[in-house]
Amino acid sequence: SSASALAKWAAQAARGFAAAAPSGKGRKVAVLGAAGGIGQPLSMLMKMNSQVSSLSLYDIAGTPGVAADISHVNTKAQVKGYDKDGLAEALRGCDLVIIPAGVPRKPGMTRDDLFKINAGIVRDLITAVGQHCPGAILNIISNPVNSTVPIAAEQLKKMGVYDKRKVMGVTTLDVVRAKTFYAEKNGLDVSAVDVPVVGGHAGVTILPLFSQATPKATMSAEVLDALTKRTQDGGTEVVQAKAGKGSATLSMAYAAALFADSCLRGLNGAPVVECTYVESTITDAPYFASKVKLSTEGVDKIHDLGPLSDYEKAGLKAMMPELLASIEKGVQFVKSG
Ligand code: NAI
Repeated sequence: SSASALAKWAAQAARGFAAAAPSGKGRKVAVLGAAGGIGQPLSMLMKMNSQVSSLSLYDIAGTPGVAADISHVNTKAQVKGYDKDGLAEALRGCDLVIIPAGVPRKPGMTRDDLFKINAGIVRDLITAVGQHCPGAILNIISNPVNSTVPIAAEQLKKMGVYDKRKVMGVTTLDVVRAKTFYAEKNGLDVSAVDVPVVGGHAGVTILPLFSQATPKATMSAEVLDALTKRTQDGGTEVVQAKAGKGSATLSMAYAAALFADSCLRGLNGAPVVECTYVESTITDAPYFASKVKLSTEGVDKIHDLGPLSDYEKAGLKAMMPELLASIEKGVQFVKSG
């Protein structure tokens, strides 16, 4: 019956993203921007993660309702909602802080158009992180990620508490999209598909490496180009479909929950490899997304790009001016602020 199918699904879901997670102490996780379009489903997915024992839901508005609602889910994580005055308490003792706070795009906007508002939001939230849980791993979702990650790093440097292993920009949605589109196009089982996505998280700075995708599929140059562009424009596809009501929230919450789960597994001693945007020396860009081994201290090892096709080499070269400019813009925002 559909009821037992649902029960089966719920049982699977409740075992959560951490079915094979190592036993360790439960982790304290905060979601900043928890009442938003991403924040709400992401908070629910974190409530379902068995590695989480304490879940802080912080937003400038709406958290009492979201926290009361999510707290009724019968999993072990203890949920607490915090408003403006509660940020310090929300953060104290956190192992992982996930940040989807800020405004999303409307049709016609680029991620960089969000800079004016979101740069200040991220800097101020990071200041509180630096004060109240400086050792925590940070998952930064707020756009433009290409700039907000350097903003976070510079702000923590200013405070003397920067650890480059802890600051990560969440690019998992680009990987999720690339996997979905690649599997669909080639008639593959999506659960068996892997596609690394490198670079940054905006337009041409998003570079899926289909030459390294597994299982291997032969694609014409036209198909390859179309898949690459669809991955780069996946966010815009959703922004247009939502027609003024925001950007990706549900697929983003899913992607962020996957990435957070991997960070927690790493913390708990079961290293995982994920693509993420971090301080990096593998290209000319001081921040770059590539495959990263996540371990007990966060970033453990940043993998090289591996062999690139000529098409990917051209894509890498083409993204650099925009990526470098976005990084510099973030750095200057904190230095001159
Ligand atoms: P939303 O507007 O639905 O929610 C944002 C939430 O942030 C709101 O609840 C708001 O009250 C809260 N907020 C604003 N200022 C705050 C502050 N100072 N402290 C705490 N909370 C604050 O927006 P949505 O759709 O959830 O998107 C959030 C961000 O995520 C946007 O910047 C968006 O561009 C970005 N995003 C990133 C993606 C990625 O792949 N990294 C994908 C999709 C969106």
